[in-house]
Amino acid sequence: MLNIILCGAPGSGKGTQSQYIMEKFGLQHLSTGDVLRAEIASGSKLGVHIDALISRGNLVPDDMMYGVIDNYLRNLPKDCKGIILDGYPRTVPQAESLTELLKKYKMDAIMIDLLVDEQLLIQRLIERGKVSGRADDNLNTIRHRIAVYHNQTEPIAHYYLHHGNYCPVNGNHSVEDVFLQIEGIIKRETKK
Ligand code: AP5
Ligand code: MG
Repeated sequence: MLNIILCGAPGSGKGTQSQYIMEKFGLQHLSTGDVLRAEIASGSKLGVHIDALISRGNLVPDDMMYGVIDNYLRNLPKDCKGIILDGYPRTVPQAESLTELLKKYKMDAIMIDLLVDEQLLIQRLIERGKVSGRADDNLNTIRHRIAVYHNQTEPIAHYYLHHGNYCPVNGNHSVEDVFLQIEGIIKRETKK
């Protein structure tokens, strides 16, 4: 099984690269952002609570995410070739929980970190905001999401560096060039 934890700042290309990886390697994709937006769209009480956090660019609580991931891993089909976790973990406690969960399901994973310059992140998200309809794709919220990323998510790089499965990627290039780097990492890791 090939399992990938795909990390990176807002707009770094997690969703875009997930599609390429899925198509090339036949993996399953879980975007925690998509799961949360689906809950909002359902109109549930929980969705209203989540909306208040996401639309301001804040993270939802760690314990809420834990159940989502546990449930997802528990229900993977038997013939699953592997998974891409897009947007999870986003805090060090989430990374610690994920290590425990992967152990529970006898899985391991590599962490691919998409590194992109801040100006480029802002440009990409402003551009996407013209058509995405996402409540968090406006300049103020984008800046706040990037600050939240620096404060809460960036430290997980050290966590994975320490655990020996950290794979940085220069995400400043074209979609195709970034994917070539990811492909190189996957081929290298699957040969091990
Ligand atoms: P989420 O939906 O994950 O949003 P995000 O992390 O802010 O990232 P984006 O989806 O905006 O960007 P992306 O990296 O997927 O880039 P994309 O490929 O779309 O999370 C939303 C919210 O949910 C969070 O803020 C939080 O509130 C909550 N949440 C989610 N997970 C959570 C968790 N684990 N814990 C707590 N809260 C959680 O690309 C962006 C744009 O750039 C696109 O238009 C694309 O076409 C373009 N693009 C991509 N790559 C390139 C390239 N190489 N060159 C040029 N353009 C490119
Ligand atoms: Mg995304």
